[in-house]
Amino acid sequence: MAVREVLVYPNQALRAGAEAVTSFDGRLKKLISDMWETMYFSKGVGLAAPQIGVPLKVVVIDWEENKYLLINPVILEQDGEERLEEGCLSFPGIYEEVTRPNKVRVTWQDENGASRDEVMEGFIARVFSHEIDHLSAKLLIDHLSPLKRRFLKKKMERKNKAK
Ligand code: NI
Repeated sequence: MAVREVLVYPNQALRAGAEAVTSFDGRLKKLISDMWETMYFSKGVGLAAPQIGVPLKVVVIDWEENKYLLINPVILEQDGEERLEEGCLSFPGIYEEVTRPNKVRVTWQDENGASRDEVMEGFIARVFSHEIDHLSAKLLIDHLSPLKRRFLKKKMERKNKAK
């Protein structure tokens, strides 16, 4: 296992999107264990593979002792709306209010390729929605008002110019 570098906005790899996982092999298992280790090291509740520069549909989540490994996740249904503050490992130190569904039905595969289909409700629905966004290159900043987005974009670009 290895802790990987978490890419910070405006790193372009965060905008690369992700492809479906098709081989459930040793390389995938290595990626998954690196993602768990990186997420715990970074003290996040979720991490998507594009955040460590790997353009694959893989997400790890640990929220209140519930661990989820999502491979090729798809949101099938969503319901309700809730506006709450959230953060992202790719926007260190930034917390912004974002409106998201408070109930999602999601299908995904586990590390052996077996399918799951579950309904998530409450804050965990938000975490699923946030992490699955990363797989289509959608970021926290894209949910903000144009004014806030411009402000945060400038701030992040200034801060991370040297990187
Ligand atoms: Ni994030």
